[in-house]
Amino acid sequence: MPLPSALPRARLARAVVLGLLALCLGAAPGVPPGEKSLQGVMQGLKDKLKELTAALEAKKQDPALDAVGEMQRLVLLAKTHEPANLDDTPKAGRPAQVVAFRKDLIALLRELADVEVDVLDEHYDAALAKVNGQVIQMRDAGHKKYK
Ligand code: HEM
Repeated sequence: MPLPSALPRARLARAVVLGLLALCLGAAPGVPPGEKSLQGVMQGLKDKLKELTAALEAKKQDPALDAVGEMQRLVLLAKTHEPANLDDTPKAGRPAQVVAFRKDLIALLRELADVEVDVLDEHYDAALAKVNGQVIQMRDAGHKKYK
């Protein structure tokens, strides 16, 4: 077996570059650090909800689309977590609690898709009514059930 020193320079350089690339890709986090916990995801949702409301009030389409898109992404991420109060639920009821949590987040995702359609149609008042109505109701109900 030839020693690395016996490798032609170009091959050695290529091996080093490929190794470094693999290291960098391996280190690239799939999920931003602040979004690894459900708490972090929820903080993100809160920030984006504020941005969405401001954009809708100002009837600004691009920032509204950005904010509602980010909220959808964060809800998808929330679905990969378990509800915070799972340990307080008797063991037998836990699988059903996880399913209910996921379904309630899917309902929020659907509502946010409807908000996005309103924004695309430039129906800002309709979008704002959904955000201040159904979205806030879903938030409060979710917190009552799973926090
Ligand atoms: C736009 C809607 C929502 C917003 C803006 C929102 C925002 C928040 C905020 C600010 C927190 C506190 C995070 C912290 O302690 O730092 C939180 C926690 C939490 N939220 Fe939401 N939320 C929303 C919807 C929901 C829904 C629909 C559910 C459940 C189906 C839910 C479940 C939870 C749970 C379980 C926690 C506790 C997380 C923990 O402490 O580990 N949230 N949320």
